[in-house]
Amino acid sequence: MTTPEEVDLGDPVAAVVETGPDAYDETPYRAFRFPETHPTRLAALARLHGLAAPDPNCARVLEFGCAGGSNLAAMARTLPTAEFHGIDLSATQIEQGRRQAIAAGLGNLRLDVADILDVDFGDARYDYMIAHGVFSWVPDPVRERLFELIRRHLAPTGIAYVSYNTLPGWSVNEAVAEMMRLEAGELADTEGRLHAARATLETFRALFDGAHGPHTELVRYELDHIGGKDAVVFLHDELEATSDPCYFLQFVEWAAEHDLRQVTDAALPTLWPNALPQQARQALARRGLSWLKAQQYLDYLQWRRFRRSVLCHAEVALDELPNPTRLDGLYVQTRLRPSGPISVAPGMPIKYRVDGLGAAGSGDVMQVTDPLIQAFMHRLWATPHHFQAFRETLDATMKDAGNAASAPGREAVLRDWVMTNLARGWMDIAATPREVSGTRLAP
Ligand SMILES: C[S@@+](CC[C@H](N)C(=O)[O-])C[C@H]1O[C@@H](n2cnc3c(N)ncnc32)[C@H](O)[C@@H]1O
Repeated sequence: MTTPEEVDLGDPVAAVVETGPDAYDETPYRAFRFPETHPTRLAALARLHGLAAPDPNCARVLEFGCAGGSNLAAMARTLPTAEFHGIDLSATQIEQGRRQAIAAGLGNLRLDVADILDVDFGDARYDYMIAHGVFSWVPDPVRERLFELIRRHLAPTGIAYVSYNTLPGWSVNEAVAEMMRLEAGELADTEGRLHAARATLETFRALFDGAHGPHTELVRYELDHIGGKDAVVFLHDELEATSDPCYFLQFVEWAAEHDLRQVTDAALPTLWPNALPQQARQALARRGLSWLKAQQYLDYLQWRRFRRSVLCHAEVALDELPNPTRLDGLYVQTRLRPSGPISVAPGMPIKYRVDGLGAAGSGDVMQVTDPLIQAFMHRLWATPHHFQAFRETLDATMKDAGNAASAPGREAVLRDWVMTNLARGWMDIAATPREVSGTRLAP
């Protein structure tokens, strides 16, 4: 096996900076991957809004704070002709990631130790720039610089993805985490800090034993959520000195100061008005709110705690809402599976169950009576592990459905149905015909 030093990790674009060991050197983060950051997903979302995002197959992709590069490695495997570059402050994590990349034969993945604050990318332009789980955990100057780097190095029609903890939803988590930090923050050794924090959590849990009421449920949910975290994630997410959630509109304004704008959110289940009940959509429309402002109101009402903003250059022309006619040229896949025998009699209802362990809506059942939609679903779930070309599937469906497809407006009904199910998180889209990854987007 070759050593990391012997491997060609690409052109020396990033300056490798000297940094001292940090918390992530002592305890490396868990190796996660985030399908919602995949360029094929980001490109598809952008295209629905009218932005011709770069071809993922030959894209240059950068991830800030990539830890050991697990997310990049997963994407580099599925897009072998694209180039992936990750930077992280922690030399230990980068070293681990490099070894794994070499072992996996990933010649299109390069990992560098670098600080967002002073990294120099030269003239490099990236088609996709990702910062997952970084923005809310770093001080303001780092966030400021993150936006500067995105503005300077994002290709003209490129896409950036930045996730962050949002208010008001994160506030309960923050309150619990602050109390644990008060108890554990002063302790020098990691084991001691973990022990003190867990003990604090148990004390709080006991306070709520047998109690009821909306506030109790809210706090109990948070205590269970935090208590359920694995020790490493718990250590970094809850006991980290910097944790700074913000409101959605604050983030949007901050991005705008750097000439960046929000295209959409990468979490399909909370994406568009389609996810809302009809009455709620009408109520919003009556208020005449922009979708941007409406999203902030929804964050307040739904107590939203996390966002995945998809950004582009401010001067790029965009549709505020996604356009169903732009599904043409994209690929779709469904998590809906028939939950019983399929009746051959046209018009008889077919029940579908939402598949996917732990994912949004798992186990939910929906009933479909429209033969056109039944025919479409029949084609989609015939190859459940692949994304299928929407336009071709639609054309074939229109033929399969015969009379059920002949009335005017039927195609639009089907397109709307797909958009609604994308927004529910029961379908997924991609800009290339990728395979379905094992990991699904959590709510
Ligand atoms: C919470 S972890 C998230 C890791 C990974 N992105 C994820 O979501 O699983 C934050 C990462 O950001 C890195 N980081 C923090 N400050 C940084 C900086 N100024 N420059 C580069 N990386 C930084 C840390 O070393 C750590 O690996």
